[in-house]
Amino acid sequence: MGNSRRRLLGLGLAGVVLTLAAGCGSSGSSSSGGGSGAKGNVPNLSASAFNVDFTEMKKLKGLASEGKGMVGVLLPDTTSSARYVEFDAPYLKDAFQAAGLSSSDYKIDNAQGSTSTMQQQAEADITAGASVLLVDPLDPGSGAAIESNAESKGVKVIDYDRLVTGGPADRYYVSFNNVQVGKLIGQGEVGCIQSWGVKNPNILVMDGDPTDNNAKLFAQGYNGVLAPHFADKSYVKVGEPAGTWDPPTAATTFEQQFTAHKNINAVVTPNDDNANAVISVLQKDKIPPKTFPTTGQDASPSGLQNILKGYQCGTVYKPIYEEAQAAAALALYLRAGLKPPSTLVNSETMDTTLNKNIASVYTVPHWVTTANMASTVVKDKAVQVSQLCAGAALQKACQAAGIS
Ligand code: GAL
Repeated sequence: MGNSRRRLLGLGLAGVVLTLAAGCGSSGSSSSGGGSGAKGNVPNLSASAFNVDFTEMKKLKGLASEGKGMVGVLLPDTTSSARYVEFDAPYLKDAFQAAGLSSSDYKIDNAQGSTSTMQQQAEADITAGASVLLVDPLDPGSGAAIESNAESKGVKVIDYDRLVTGGPADRYYVSFNNVQVGKLIGQGEVGCIQSWGVKNPNILVMDGDPTDNNAKLFAQGYNGVLAPHFADKSYVKVGEPAGTWDPPTAATTFEQQFTAHKNINAVVTPNDDNANAVISVLQKDKIPPKTFPTTGQDASPSGLQNILKGYQCGTVYKPIYEEAQAAAALALYLRAGLKPPSTLVNSETMDTTLNKNIASVYTVPHWVTTANMASTVVKDKAVQVSQLCAGAALQKACQAAGIS
């Protein structure tokens, strides 16, 4: 899927007229810029301006040519979500290239779930002359060790997608608003319970891995939405077992809970692959569609198919091309020795270990159901229609959802 998606995107890029000069509006001496040894104007990129054609990145060509050293990207795994392979890696590459970096100016690694592998990849990047590291940690402790070592060697660090709580205080963070992601999940579940007419909702809340700061923020979001329903006893919270990003573990957890509590008739989870594990159990138990709401995140192909089949209410779609461009742009400002503009650094995130706000860039998440699948993920080519709508049943569901 990645290759075809990128081919399609490539065609779009080919048609784009370069607007380099037009993007260079304000200078690095503006209130949010400064500290620059850069020649010429510094573009004030905005966090809300990134698009699927990567045109914003072209405005950073001057900055890219003035920067020094390599940008190293450290991604966590390939099993907890398809996003890292299908979206993050290719979109980061596209973003760097659109800004004019050559392939020796950046390196994108995946730690395959191993903290020691990530540590080694970081060391290798620093040895190879990295000036900026983007870290999407497996857990905050290992991420903070990588970051403090990097900073001690003069390398700037950016937390990518997951906050490295306890990392260096002057770092940056790029992500979606993760509490908002959780809210969308909670609201999606509530709406689905209504529209599917689920009587006496008995909900199992299945969180993400507690070592991921995002999992805490997602839970804060959906638990906040569900709390009044539990309080007024219109819903029952059956439990909230230990969280995980490992789908086989999620399947076992769900199976155990469902055996112990036969009245469970809804699940809230912030991950399409964990939802898919739950749904496999439901299908094995012959639970009919549109009777047992589940939720997810990441707009993975299986998640989208489960929505079309009526086993999942919706998914949070995070246009990763926006997050990747925001991160690449931030890296390019830092690589050129500049303070990134406040139009880009639009938020702050509390690091509860440091008890300090970390300067952040947030891009916007979206709740996707059958009603808007065509106008969001399909339009953005985040999934291929031939893959999404494979087989007679899905073909029919795609037609009904206006997907072609
Ligand atoms: C989160 C990330 C999600 C999902 C999950 C499991 O940190 O924001 O998009 O991928 O990890 O990998």
